[in-house]
Amino acid sequence: MKLSPSILSADFSRLGAEIKSIDEAGADYIHLDIMDGQFVPNLSFGIPVVEAVRKVTDKPLDVHLMIEEPIRYIEAFQEAGADILTVHVEACKHLHRTLSRIRELDMKAGVALNPATSVNVLNYIFDDVDLVLVMSVNPGYGGQTFIPGMLDKIKRIHKIADDKGLQNLDIEVDGGITLNNVSAVVDAGANVIVAGSAIFQGDPKANVKEFLKRMY
Ligand code: DX5
Ligand code: ZN
Repeated sequence: MKLSPSILSADFSRLGAEIKSIDEAGADYIHLDIMDGQFVPNLSFGIPVVEAVRKVTDKPLDVHLMIEEPIRYIEAFQEAGADILTVHVEACKHLHRTLSRIRELDMKAGVALNPATSVNVLNYIFDDVDLVLVMSVNPGYGGQTFIPGMLDKIKRIHKIADDKGLQNLDIEVDGGITLNNVSAVVDAGANVIVAGSAIFQGDPKANVKEFLKRMY
């Protein structure tokens, strides 16, 4: 079980301190949301911020690329310090090639599915991914409401992974996760939990600790 706080909702004027506090409170990963204004309507931050975060924590950097044709930037994110690189199936012309390239550069390869995308897209790439990211909101913004139908999608992926004997496949869920629904997400089969606003609104340290309690 891993908690991956998304810094999208952090106070960027004191990002180093924000990361230090979630790191010390026991966050497993740091989730970084990269948005290009094309694949999603919003812009966030880019490679220099990933480099800066790399300098203030030893925790794995879980980089979520919400950008068109991410294959163009795989090397740059690896050099910036990414450990897990997740791309959207909807944003890749050649998904298999993209995932292979990520692994060639010694990062974990993740594939993200928008809420309306079927789990069937995973059929021929299970051998090429380390992590499946189920989006439980439409990507682009923090602070949205969890789409309840995504619990069924998590269960399905969990069952397929079980049937195929993929014990090492991580199932990550991102969007609208709060202290109130995190147990349901874990019960459905998720083992990597992303939370942004529910961590950084209020006291991030206390929120991380409370999340970790409810996840186990
Ligand atoms: C949404 C991002 C999320 C976002 C989650 O496009 O991928 O990682 O930061 O924020 P909350 O937890 O507030 O929904
Ligand atoms: Zn994300």
